[in-house]
This record gives sequence, structure tokens and C-alpha cells, in this order.
Amino acid sequence: MENIRNFCIIAHIDHGKSTLADRLLQLTNTLTDREFQEQVLDSMDLEREKGITIKSHAIQMEYTYQGKPYKLNLIDTPGHVDFSYEVSRAIASCEGALLVVDATQGIQAQTISNLYLALNHDLEIIPVINKIDMDAAMVDEVKDQIVDLIGCKPEEILAVSAKTGQGVEEVLDAIVTRIKPPAGDPNAPLQALIFDSVFNSFRGIIAYFKVFNGTIRKGDKVKFFNTGMEYEADEVGILRLKMIPRDSISAGDVGYIISGIKDSSEVKVGDTITHVNKPCEKAIAGFEDVKPMLFAGLYPVDADEYEDLRASLEKLKLNDASITFEPESSLALGFGFRCGFLGLLHMEIVQERLYREFNMDVITTVPNVPYLVHTTKGEVIEVHNPSGLPAPTMIDYIEEPVIAAQIITKSEYLGAVIKLCIDKRGVLKNQVFLTSDRVELSFRLPLSEIVFDFYDKLKSISRGYASFDYVVDGYQEARLVKLDILLNGEGVDALSSLIHNDNAYEFGRRMCEKLKELIPRQQFDIAIQAAIGSKIIARETVKAVRKDVTAKCYGGDITRKRKLLEKQKKGKKRMRQIGTVEVPQQAFLAVLKMD
Ligand code: GTP
Repeated sequence: MENIRNFCIIAHIDHGKSTLADRLLQLTNTLTDREFQEQVLDSMDLEREKGITIKSHAIQMEYTYQGKPYKLNLIDTPGHVDFSYEVSRAIASCEGALLVVDATQGIQAQTISNLYLALNHDLEIIPVINKIDMDAAMVDEVKDQIVDLIGCKPEEILAVSAKTGQGVEEVLDAIVTRIKPPAGDPNAPLQALIFDSVFNSFRGIIAYFKVFNGTIRKGDKVKFFNTGMEYEADEVGILRLKMIPRDSISAGDVGYIISGIKDSSEVKVGDTITHVNKPCEKAIAGFEDVKPMLFAGLYPVDADEYEDLRASLEKLKLNDASITFEPESSLALGFGFRCGFLGLLHMEIVQERLYREFNMDVITTVPNVPYLVHTTKGEVIEVHNPSGLPAPTMIDYIEEPVIAAQIITKSEYLGAVIKLCIDKRGVLKNQVFLTSDRVELSFRLPLSEIVFDFYDKLKSISRGYASFDYVVDGYQEARLVKLDILLNGEGVDALSSLIHNDNAYEFGRRMCEKLKELIPRQQFDIAIQAAIGSKIIARETVKAVRKDVTAKCYGGDITRKRKLLEKQKKGKKRMRQIGTVEVPQQAFLAVLKMD
């Protein structure tokens, strides 16, 4: 155990975590050159395309320092706010963290929030300034910022270029010399914390764990503490780029177990693995359950695939414990699930992963935050869906979630940032100048105002020089109304939304305009209306068009006609028939596209 180091890399988004991780893997020869490809830890295609890390990854490296061999377990973590849950799980399995700060950007909002997470878990922090090869690097200035933030000595800060490899060797040395080896007793009863799991179609469910105490061996009879289920450890091993089987994994180390688990509900991230014969006394304090803060309906495009969608969501949940889902039905869309997400990016990624990994084409409905409805009978109901709102006469008052937001920006953009937040019903709580031209603002903002486009707006008004982080901080009373959308007089429940009274008229008008753009012209006029209760507040019309695809067949060849119709059917992918109107998927998310 003396020779094990468990560490993670924390940073603001794009400061270079993944690039630094690649360099560490290369320097330790964990990857052959053939295996090496840019950002190798971002193994999901989606991650590579978007250039962001979504999932945490674990990988083991070997490194010799002063003639002694060491095993370094790196847990890579994502940077986007939506995924801070993954970060906290990674941190619970480590003794140290590299805090990476971009030399051209300086400390940003998530640098600070991730640092606090790491400090809460008593991790040793190794500050690393990255991108020193760039002309715009401000190494000395950023050093001062880091000294101010964590109170370290300037000499303790490493300066590297993850791109060229300059200084990266010193990072490996610092990991060995500064981070404590893991504590724990390899001879005590087994306690291993499951920090992630994945579904593999050949091997069943694979769980990743860190052993806190004891030793797990191939063939052992093990028990999962919370579920009480017992298994035989068919295979245990360590994680390199691939899984490498080992006879045993001992206290302090990170590994995987395959034990023929077929049902995803049996593996819970945060559960403890122990031995059947010599169990540990209690489970390791796991992770806090994350609370999803954005809810939307997910419906199969093909209504027959409801059961397949359930199975796919169950498998996805193995790899992403933060998704929640429960069945719901919609008059417009049939049977589907109400899903809870961490944020909008998370929702997009879930939809995309369902499509790529499970071949599931789904329609997502207008997302909303959870609301607390206090009824006239004194009950409190958590509402995840506009249709779940009780009748107006039953409602005493409604509360909406609020966040404590932290924004760091250059002072020249201060006015614009404050205006944006106030437009979004924000209240300024605090304002601190970090340096003469960098300001930290603390705001209280309704969560519903920031989930859609806040971050993009913030970036554009500050030309990228504003960073943003938040935590959910209770609820406050809000005057909300339910806004309905009618297509040719028929209410479409999947398009309803809950919205603040002051924004309702404007929102209804823009929603109708947007839907007009998104709903293709059909063979009759389509009236699009927005209504609050029985009151229509906005209206648009999609004019009719006559388009008969079979016209050019001159009524002749029937097979040809059928082919054309088939072709047209394909073109209708992600379309839904609402009454007589065909509605494309984008329309259900019109609300996200309004500016
Ligand atoms: P997320 O995974 O999305 O949180 O981002 P990340 O922090 O892992 O950042 P990533 O490693 O993807 O790097 C972001 C960008 O900075 C990429 O375009 C890298 O090529 C670039 N980059 C990283 N390190 C360096 C460096 O030392 N020098 C220069 N010039 N560019 C770098």
C-alpha cells in the first residue's frame, strides 16, 4: 500500500485536464504509441466529439521514483457544472488532487468549487498551472491568484504545458512525494466502495470499486451490503485502458469485479462490497444521492418501443446513477417516462447516448424544474410535470428552487453581467474584487431562469470572460402559471409549461412564433395558440400547402407508389401525430430555441 497513490485532476472546463492525463499516461508508458490517441480517456465518442469529459474514468499507471516502483491510480473527472456529481464521487476515492489552472485564464468559478470539494475530503492539493507554452500565459499573475486562494507557497506550484510535455515529469514526482499513500488494513474484513458501474453485453454488469479495507480475490463469495445480494467474484482486476485480470485487489487499490450480475437494479453506486463469510461491520459512508433539478418527458418515437426504452434507461442508469425515471403518460405522446436530469447538457447527453448506445430514438418534452405546491389542505406536493399541477382552487401557493450562483468576470463586463442576472429575477448578494480587474459576484437566482440559455448568454455578453457555478439553495415562493399550447384547438400536454406570471405573455407569444417556424406546412392551416386557463394570449398560423408525393406516379405503378410512401415515412422520423397535425421533435423543445 505504501507504493499506491490515488489521485484525481480537478479543473475548470477546458483548462486541460484530459490533455494532462494523456501526457501522464504517455510518460508512464501506460499506453503504447499505437494505443495513443488524443484524449484517450474521453472514450465515449460523444466526449470526443464535444471535446468534453462526461464520465469519470479510472486508470492505473506504473511509475518509478528514485528506484522504487509506484502504482498511480488516476480518476479523471468532468468539468461542466452538470457533472459535478461525478467529480464528488471521484474525489471520495482519492487521497490527492491536481488542481489544474489555465495560465491564460486564471482561476475560474469551477476551479474554486472543485477545490472546496477536494478540501472537504481532506485531499492533498497539488496546484498546476497549465498551458505555459501559450503567448497569452500569465504565469506569475496566476501563481499569485493560486497562492491567495489556497494559501500555498509559490514554490509549490508546478508550471507545465500538457501540450508539449514541459514540466509534466515533475507532476509525477509530486504525486509520489506529496500525496499520502491510502490508509486501510489489507487484513481487515473487506470493505470496497463501488464508485461506478457499466453494462457490458458480453460480461454483464461490471462494477468499479476502491478497496478501503481487506482484500478481494478471484472466486471469493461476496455480498453487496445495501442490496444484500450475494455473488461469486468470477473475475477481479485493475483498470488500464482495458481491464486486466488479477488474482486479488487489496486495500488502497482501485479495481473492477465481474460476477454475473444481470439486473441493473442490483448494483448501486455508493454500495459497499464485503465478504459473505467475514463481513465488515458497516458499510462505507457512500455518496449523497444527487437530486435531479430538471425534469422532462422521454417518449419513444415508435410507441411500440416503450418496454425497450425502459430497459435502455435501466442500463444507462448503471453508468449514470444521476438519472431518475418513472412512467408517465401523455395524451399527445402515449406512454413514456418522466426523467430527472442534472441540467440541460445532461439531458442532451442522455438523449444522445440512448440513441447511440441503445439505438433508441426518443422525443423529449419541454423540461422544467421541480416545484413545491402547497395545497389549501396544508399538504406539500413536489410537481415534476405541468400536468401534475393540482387544480387552481386547490393551490395555496407554489415554491420554486433557487440557486446560490457564483460568477467570476472581468470588471469591464460587470454591468452587463449584473443586468443579465437581474433580468433573470436575480438578487445580488455580494461583490468582491479578486484583483483590480476580476470580480466575483454572488447572486440568488431562480433555477428555472438559468437552466435554458443563461450560460450561453453569460458567455456571449462577457466574450467568454465570465465563468459560472452554482449550488441549489432552497425554495422561494413564486407566482407561476401553467401555459398551454393548442394546435387546431386541441391542447398538447407535452408542450405545456410552468412559467412565472410576469414572463407568461412574452413567453406565450415567442413560443407560438417559434412553433410556427418549426412545424412544417401541411395540407391544411394549423392554428397555434397559447393559453392560460381558458384565455388565449397568442396565436400564429401555419399556412396550408398541397404536396402530393405520389402525384408524379400518374396513379400507375403500385409498388413504386408504395416505395415513395415508405420513403416519406422515413423522413418523418422523430415526428409525432398530434390530432391531425404532424409535429417534429424540435417543436417539443421549441422553448430551448427561443432567444
Ligand atoms: P473537459 O474535459 O471538457 O473538462 O476539458 P479539459 O479540462 O479536459 O480540457 P482539455 O484537455 O480537453 O483541453 C482543452 C483545450 O486546451 C484543448 O483544445 C487542448 O488541446 C488545449 N490544451 C490543453 N493543454 C494545453 C497546453 O498545455 N497548451 C496549449 N497550448 N493548449 C492546451
